[in-house]
Amino acid sequence: MDHFHQKHILDMASLSKQEIDYIINTAITLKDISNRPIKKVPTLRGKSIVHFFHEPSTRTRTSFEIAAKRMSADTFSISASTSSMTKGETLLDTVNTLQAMNPDIIVMRHSASGAPHFVSRKLLNASVINAGDGMHAHPTQCLLDMMTVREALGKIKDLKLSIIGDIFHSRVARSNIIGFTKMGAKVTVAAPCTMIPNGVDKLGAQVAKSLEDAVSNADIIMALRIQKERQSNFFFPSEREYASFYGLSYERLKSMNKNAYIMHPGPINRGVELSSDVADCPESLIMKQVTNGVAIRMALLYLLMGGTRNAHSN
Ligand code: CP
Repeated sequence: MDHFHQKHILDMASLSKQEIDYIINTAITLKDISNRPIKKVPTLRGKSIVHFFHEPSTRTRTSFEIAAKRMSADTFSISASTSSMTKGETLLDTVNTLQAMNPDIIVMRHSASGAPHFVSRKLLNASVINAGDGMHAHPTQCLLDMMTVREALGKIKDLKLSIIGDIFHSRVARSNIIGFTKMGAKVTVAAPCTMIPNGVDKLGAQVAKSLEDAVSNADIIMALRIQKERQSNFFFPSEREYASFYGLSYERLKSMNKNAYIMHPGPINRGVELSSDVADCPESLIMKQVTNGVAIRMALLYLLMGGTRNAHSN
């Protein structure tokens, strides 16, 4: 592949294996910019990027802002609480208003699954990047996770990834099941049965019989946050009970698997899905995931604006 042809980044199902490799290879090339004394290149000078976040975010929002600024783009932020959507404006009117100001890229997080896809169909010129939509997709998280795994283990193909926790509500789980299986990894999920969505096997994941079954064989264990904000029912009796059956302490982890790397997309509920001695252990890749988030988002902004992989190697 010598050029990137996607206009939008909406989900992992829309990206080919070659495109995923191309994005990760571009991010690896761009990562070094963040280690320079002057962390800025002029590549996206004159481009306008709107960060439209309709749900809270620390990692995704900050890393998109940093990525855009490191590439010298002009950035503008809108959040739900400060936009005219609080006065009753519809998403379509908000998008048409943004369109009239002619941005180049809209980075969008929304609580409604499919909102970035809807917006992408209404925009004539701007690209849309899905920064997380409801329970559906979080493609940039999957790409940074794959980059982190490739750096740690040298490959993705044939690796065993086990995802533990609130699979039902997780856009990260859905994107990672689709993305990692597409790249040849074997993905297993484990959770209380109330948190395993119907059809997860059709996405490509195997459902483990027990936590031990998922953990003991894995090369990478990815824990997920219990998403209380999306739970309208009781999926388990209490956090304490969840932690006692599915929470990972270092001692429990090591009794099942001595070598696996640990990942978590964040934010972490310490003491629920992971104890602090796991989150901060030598095998934890969690901070590397955050660092790679900037590189992946730089790569996506750059490629959507017509960049090619090799143009930024110096
Ligand atoms: N991983 C992730 O999406 O984190 P934020 O919600 O902080 O952006």
